[in-house]
Parts: sequence; structure tokens; C-alpha cells
Amino acid sequence: MRIAANLALDERVNALRAQGVDVLHLGFGEAGLPVHPGLVDALARGASHNAYGPVAGGVPARESVAGYWTRRGTPTSADQVVLGPGSKPLLAAVVACEPGDVVLPRPSWVTYASQLELFGRRAVWVDVPHGSGGIPDPALLPEALARARAQGAHPRLVVVTLPDNPTGLLARPDEVKELCRVAEAEDLVVVSDEIYRDVVFGSVPFVSPADLVPDRTITVTGLSKSLALGGWRVGAIRFPDTDWGRALRDSVVGFASQVWSNLAAPMQSVAQYAFDEPVDLVRHRGASTRLHGAVATAVYDVFARHGVLDVPPDGAFYVYPDFEPYRERLAAHGIRGGTDLTRWLLEEHGLAVLAGEPFGDDPRGLRFRAATSLLYGERAEQRTEALTATDPLQVPHVATALRRLDDVVAATVSA
Ligand SMILES: Cc1ncc(COP(=O)(O)O)c(C=O)c1O
Repeated sequence: MRIAANLALDERVNALRAQGVDVLHLGFGEAGLPVHPGLVDALARGASHNAYGPVAGGVPARESVAGYWTRRGTPTSADQVVLGPGSKPLLAAVVACEPGDVVLPRPSWVTYASQLELFGRRAVWVDVPHGSGGIPDPALLPEALARARAQGAHPRLVVVTLPDNPTGLLARPDEVKELCRVAEAEDLVVVSDEIYRDVVFGSVPFVSPADLVPDRTITVTGLSKSLALGGWRVGAIRFPDTDWGRALRDSVVGFASQVWSNLAAPMQSVAQYAFDEPVDLVRHRGASTRLHGAVATAVYDVFARHGVLDVPPDGAFYVYPDFEPYRERLAAHGIRGGTDLTRWLLEEHGLAVLAGEPFGDDPRGLRFRAATSLLYGERAEQRTEALTATDPLQVPHVATALRRLDDVVAATVSA
């Protein structure tokens, strides 16, 4: 198994920077914001907890997570929740424990397909609806399933990402409803990755499959994005309150017991505090989301101005432009696909972005994902400055980075 494309790019950029190369790094999905002091205190309070504890996580932390989902209109008990070191291993555990193949939106987060490979499952790729993201197009799904079954696949799970990485778009309620209707008709389990749920800044209302088809939806979330705690590794998963849901939960706990034992006890203290959503932390999360929205929209404006993007982002911190209108011009430079394009951008312009191919997209597509959050700055003071500014777009280092991006995109489309 190769290192994940996003992590590999991050390591490459760090190596280039160590050699003194000036890179504008839009290649990695790190929230890039400081840790709220309340989280530091919660971690300190948990530091003396050194016993392993229950595999699923202790009751107090699981109760907090259950409260988080219940407040969002999805009644949840602590028994339905399992904590883990990030949502990534929890997703892997679901794939390992629920037999069958998996429908993935194209494009979708790089890790889903790689995890399927790890466990010998097939990906059934289905394009996202035009102008949307994060869900396989429900109109294309029945035919794709029939084709996959005819080829010997056994589709069982369908993944949705609400809002989405890499497109930054949130599927509309009617699209989510239609997807759930098809999932029900085709007897698919919906895996709803809601790690960006608290990073929505657009006007599309959030609808979770857990509220539409509760008996067949597994939901995952975590603290890596909304609270910028990627390195702390805190994730949570919710199973349906049914016989099947309980059996799958037990199986995931069994998997966890063999692989990671439990979420680190001090991190359970953090989870308990964070999922209780104290006012001060919610305010901080709101400010973070406003910053993500302002900068992602400004980056969208840059690409839109040059005709390579036409739907503004709704959430998360990504945009996914398409340079198809400039195919002929780019071909003159030997650029025929996303990987050529991103290599050229890095080598010629010092811009690091991730090509569409690792997201399952057509390698010939001239698409890539730009992660907008790394524009807040490299140093903690810069990030705090961006977070606390009335207008983050006027903060000098943010404004300079946006101008540089505009220059690079202008140079690319007129190359
Ligand atoms: C859609 C999506 N799901 C899950 C994750 C993983 O998050 P965690 O840090 O909880 O493992 C990411 C991180 O990039 C993501 O983009």
C-alpha cells in the first residue's frame, strides 16, 4: 500500500520548503487554526487518566457524543456510539466488518477507495450530480448497481460526504432524500461522513440520511475539522438502534479491540468537553467557520473570474476547479490530465494542489482540489490574526497569498 496522496504531497511540500523553495501550499486538508484554550484544559484534566478503559470509550464521553447528535434532531443513546482515534479508522472498521462492496461518489475523499483496497472490496464509482458534490447521483445509481452486480460485485454500502471533500459542496435536501430512497429500494446501508457538518457557511440546509433512513444509516464525525484537532485524533461513529446496528457496533468494537484498543483516555476528556458544546467553544467554532467561508469563497472568486469554477462552496475548506475550457492551450505545454497540471503548477509556479485522480476522478480531467485553509498562514500568530480579523481578506499575508493565487491562475489560463 502506498502512502495516501494527500499526505505524500504534504511531505513533498515540506521537503521543498526545507530546501528554501517558496510554495503556496493548497494541497492538504488541515483546518490550520489554533487550539481553543478550553480544549487544552480538558486535555490537561485527562492527562492523569492512564488506564485503557472500555474499547468503545467511557460512558461520559459517549454520552456527550450522544447529546451532540440528539441536539441536532437525531435521538442517540451512548450505547449507539463508539469513539476512536479519528474517523478514518472508524470508517475502515465499518468496511472491515460489514461484508460487501461500496458505492463511492466520484470524486470523493482519497481515503475511501484506498480503504476498500486494503480490505479487498470493490469500489462502485458513480458521478456526483452536476453542480453538486458528496453523493453519488441518485439518477445514475440504479443502473450503476445493476452493472456492478452483473460484473459480480455485491454492493452493500454507499458513502456520502456532507458537506464534501474535495468539492466543498453540500448536497441539497432533495438530492439527499432521493439518494436515501434509492438506498432503501436497493437495500444499501448509507455511511454518512459528517466530519464537516459544523463547517457549513452556505445557504443549503443540512439534511442527514440518519434522519431520513435511520435504520440503515451509519454516521461518522470527529473534531479534526470543526475544531482543528486533526493531530489529536478524535472521532466518533453512530450506529442504528436496531438488531443489525447493534451487531455491527459489536463487530466494530471487536475490530477496535484488535487494532487500537480505545481512544486515548486524555482524548476522551477532550471529546467529553467538546461534544458537550460549551458556549465559548461554540463561539470559537462559529468564528472558525466564518473564516473558512470567507477564504474559501475568495478562492472560489479567483477561479470563477478565470472561468474554471461556477458553483460557490457551501462548507469545509475546499474548491475543485475544472480547467477543461483551457485544454488546448494547456496541451501545448504537454498538460493532458490532472496530474500533469498539478505537477506543472508546482514546478512552474510553486502552487501545491492535489489532482482529481486520487479522488477517483478521470485522470484526463483537468481538475484538482485546492484546500483553502492553509492560506491562514504558517505560524500560530498569523492564524490567530486571520481568525480574529474583522475582515480576514484584508489581513496582509492572506491578501498576498490570494493575489499570488490569482497571478498563478491567470498565468495558467493564458499559458
Ligand atoms: C471527508 C473526510 N472524512 C474523514 C476525514 C478524516 O478525519 P479524521 O481526522 O477524523 O480521521 C477527512 C480528513 O481529511 C475527510 O476529509
